[in-house]
Formats: sequence, C-alpha cells, structure tokens
Amino acid sequence: MQPDPEKRAIRAAFGKAALRYDSVAHIQRCIADALLAKCPATVGMALDAGSGTGYATEKFRALGTACLALDHAVPMLLALSGENICGDIEALPLRSACVALYYSSLAWQWADASYAIAEAARVLQPGGTLAVATLGPATLGELRAAFRHADNIEHVRRFMPATSYAAQLTAAGFDGIEIQCKDFVAYASDLRTMLRDIKTLGAHVVGKPRPPGLYGVQGFRRAEAYYHSLREAAGLPLTYDVVFITAQRAC
Ligand SMILES: C[S@@+](CC[C@H](N)C(=O)[O-])C[C@H]1O[C@@H](n2cnc3c(N)ncnc32)[C@H](O)[C@@H]1O
Repeated sequence: MQPDPEKRAIRAAFGKAALRYDSVAHIQRCIADALLAKCPATVGMALDAGSGTGYATEKFRALGTACLALDHAVPMLLALSGENICGDIEALPLRSACVALYYSSLAWQWADASYAIAEAARVLQPGGTLAVATLGPATLGELRAAFRHADNIEHVRRFMPATSYAAQLTAAGFDGIEIQCKDFVAYASDLRTMLRDIKTLGAHVVGKPRPPGLYGVQGFRRAEAYYHSLREAAGLPLTYDVVFITAQRAC
C-alpha cells in the first residue's frame, strides 16, 4: 500500500476540493459517461469506488440500480443521499462477493493499483463486472513538458502504462479482459487557470515531496512561454490518456 503521508495528502486534497469539485469536473464527467456506457444496463448491487461527489452513483440509482458510493475523503460524500461509505479502495470495508458491478472512474491512479485490483476481485461476485477508467502515462504530458522548461523537479504525477494491468487482472481471477486507451483533451485559457482548476479538483498531489519555492517567477515564465507555443483555437490543451478496463470476475 502507499506510504501513509502520500495517502493522507491525497485524501486531504480531495476533501478540501469537495465543495467546488463539480464546478470544474468537465472532463471527469465525459470520462465517467464513457465508462457508464461500458457497464451492463441492469445488475444487482453496484459499487462506485472512489465516487467523489457521486456523479456515477446518482446515474446508477436513477436507473434503478442500487449503488454504494465509497470514497476515502468524507467531504466528497456529504452532499450525497443514500448509502455511502468512507473507505479505501486498497482495503475495502466490504464483505467478499457482495457486489455485481465494481465501477471506478479516475480513482485507481491515486492508489496502488495492485491492491485495488485484488480488492475488486474479492468484493465482486463470480461473473460480476469490473469497469474502471484510470490514467495512463501520457496524461498531462503538455504540463509535464512545460515544467521541464521551468526546473528539474517533478511537478506532475506519474501514471502506470495500460500494458501493466492485464497480467495483474488475470492473476487476480478476472477473465474477458478488455483494455482500451482514449485521449480526452481539456482546454484552459492560460497556464495559471489550468493550474488553479487542477487544484480546485484536488488533483495536484504529485507523490514525492517537493522542495518549497519551486520554479520561481522566471521558471514559471519559461513554462508559460513553452505552453503558449502549443496553443490551439480552443486554448491551451491538456491531454488525459484514459485507460478503460472491463473484465468479468471468473466464476
Ligand atoms: C478524480 S476524483 C474522481 C471522482 C469521481 N469518480 C468522478 O468521476 O468524478 C478521485 C476520487 O478518488 C478518491 N480516492 C483517491 N484515492 C482513494 C482511495 N485510496 N480510496 C478511496 N477513494 C480514493 C478521491 O478522494 C476522489 O474523490
């Protein structure tokens, strides 16, 4: 499992973001919708693992599917009615084989995926469906490149390649595994707005502790100048390399 300080920082960042998360989660909604479209229309109990404010949970419930929302950041769950659980996707507080659908959009990249996979396999009923959207290594690539012009410090989180999942899923007892990658691109008017929106989402924890002071004014200007060279008609592009995973829990 992740070392506690990193997990605490991630939980605190999303907890602080809860009230304003929905106001900036445009790409996150598109990705959640694309993942919902890959789910079976009717199932028994569903789990929305790393639910955030419960966008997908509410969609499932509106369709008549009972759905548990689970997130480790309690403030994310506060505005959501129904049955919601504060818990960790690496160690789910649920009994084995209790859900027919494990749905998770944009949470696995914040956790140790090997634990998340093992827990998904444990709580899914035989024949149950896994539907996950997570982020691949090209995610935020423009921002990573821009910061390379500012200093030599890592400012963007590293994401696991799509190729790393199949063997782990098979070993955990999944079959019918399908993994597809698709780019989603967000646009911002300028670099400051982009960084502010990432912070408003709560998605700014990089992983390793960074020294204070960071790039300074000159470094930031170099990053801005580089990013400006990427500008498109819609604004500064920011790519999300989304990895969609679907699979069945072996019977
Ligand atoms: C980017 S948000 C996505 C929220 C929601 N699924 C959506 O599509 O809008 C990531 C969510 O995962 C949660 N999360 C991250 N790591 C987690 C963990 N180890 N256990 C439970 N939740 C976690 C965060 O608190 C946050 O609410």
